[in-house]
Amino acid sequence: MIYQIYPRSWADSDGDGIGDLPGVTARMPYLAELGVDAVWLSPFYVSPQHDAGYDVADYRDIDPIFGTLSDADALVARARELGIKVIVDLVPNHSSSEHPWFQAALAAGPGSRERARYLFRDGLGQHGELPPNNWTSNFSGDGWTRVTEADGSPGQWYLHLFDSTQPDFDWHNADVRAEFESILRFWLDRGVDGFRVDVAHGLVKADGLPDGETQAELLAPADRVEGSPMWDQDGVHEIYREWRRVLDSYNTGANDTSEDRILCAEAWVEPPERLVRYVRPDEMHQSFNFDFLGTPWLAAQFRQVIENSLRSTDSVGAPTTWVLSNHDVVRHASRLGLPVRPERVRLHGIGPSDPQPDAELGLRRARAAAALMLSLPGSVYLYQGEELGLPEATQLPDDVRQDPTWKRSRHQIIGRDGCRVPIPWTADAPSYGFGPSERTWLPQPDSFAALAVDRQDGVEGSTLELYRTLLRLRRELRLGMSSLRWVDGYGEDVLAFAVSAQPAEPADAQQPADVGSPADGGDHPVLVLVNFGSSAVPLPEHARVLATSDGFTDDGLVPTDVAVWARL
Ligand code: GLC
Repeated sequence: MIYQIYPRSWADSDGDGIGDLPGVTARMPYLAELGVDAVWLSPFYVSPQHDAGYDVADYRDIDPIFGTLSDADALVARARELGIKVIVDLVPNHSSSEHPWFQAALAAGPGSRERARYLFRDGLGQHGELPPNNWTSNFSGDGWTRVTEADGSPGQWYLHLFDSTQPDFDWHNADVRAEFESILRFWLDRGVDGFRVDVAHGLVKADGLPDGETQAELLAPADRVEGSPMWDQDGVHEIYREWRRVLDSYNTGANDTSEDRILCAEAWVEPPERLVRYVRPDEMHQSFNFDFLGTPWLAAQFRQVIENSLRSTDSVGAPTTWVLSNHDVVRHASRLGLPVRPERVRLHGIGPSDPQPDAELGLRRARAAAALMLSLPGSVYLYQGEELGLPEATQLPDDVRQDPTWKRSRHQIIGRDGCRVPIPWTADAPSYGFGPSERTWLPQPDSFAALAVDRQDGVEGSTLELYRTLLRLRRELRLGMSSLRWVDGYGEDVLAFAVSAQPAEPADAQQPADVGSPADGGDHPVLVLVNFGSSAVPLPEHARVLATSDGFTDDGLVPTDVAVWARL
């Protein structure tokens, strides 16, 4: 179980309103108690913060707002003491425009070695006044920006798939490849356990940079990625094979893989057959399962996504992963409180003038979704605050928004700030205990008070205690290593399956499983039942309840939008 920390919003040690590394270190015991195996930290590198640190100006140092390199060392050491691994964010698709390489490229002019590290091109039109192709930025607007050359004349254009302050590297360039190998080694030498690779499907662009379909792809379900000249080019895989060799050279145990360094791809790629190419045996170890995250609240769709995910990762021998929220999408406690539409779920932010989610319904479904996710075989990624049931902040005033999407889309796309609001730790403290002062870089909604950690700690039925219970059981029953068999007979609105830590039997989606009798082999399977329908359903007789996301009806049935784990 890997827990995502968004450092600027996790815990603030110095009262400047922005979370920092000493804050993370101080709160590490909370994560140990929750039962996390690893943390993934969003970027903490030197950065002008035009995209909250995903615009890196120095890959080998910490931004002063987050602390120092020795704070990072202290964090890794503390995590190690508590048995928690540390995964850091690697941002290889682009640097910040303040990176010394980009500054040198601007100064050196067309045709220089410095420019060749990025994607500079002459413009089209009589005077080069038109961008080199029709690519748009994921954050809206043009994908190209024209520079002014040293002599003051209008010059070349450079590509940026994101903000104009995030110029894309040219991954055909040998300097770029060597530099990132060296950056990997820098962090591995400092003791990190792996990397989450930002925009892993974007590094290599189609030869000749041909025109493509224009669409903000990354922040929407990745339905336009296939065939796009910007994304998922075959050339990316050679890079990951090289990185894999670097990581493997840091592994120690021949048979013991528990200390292996890992790579996890952020790749918004469809279909699953393309996505699993990133996790072939000599490439990365895991990739985020965004199909699961984007699944509408419908039993049949969850079943299909689960089957497809298991089948496709099995085909390359990689573990499946599961994720419901991250720092780029609407928190699932709110997403699931919106009307269900079969075709897609809302991933973009929600603003004050949008239809508002039903908070109670969203939380109920979020708890059931968590119970579903935490029962599944494979790895699970949690996003900070989901264990508190935090909702999206949908009422942020426009003048506090910082996501570059908001500005670049001329206020058409609300952006991702609503899922990035600082965490509430203590209901009755300034900034709800986020830091020692009142300051928070985004305002916290009033609803955060009742969801603060201290209001849920030890409180039976709280979302925090639900997560703790599920995570403890997941570990004890080794559900991450289990196999899954569907259980039919509950109707189309109920998802029912049995998971068992005995890996002997292959998952078979077709055969109704005989999970009624515990006599059929050593370990008793766990029945997981999620009721998406409008009527309550019974558990099998003799089932012993291990956990429920929200209780039972008076006559002991599983109500609507509730998930149950039971021992058979
Ligand atoms: C990834 C990050 C996102 C960032 C983008 C550009 O998608 O998750 O937060 O804005 O890459 O680096």
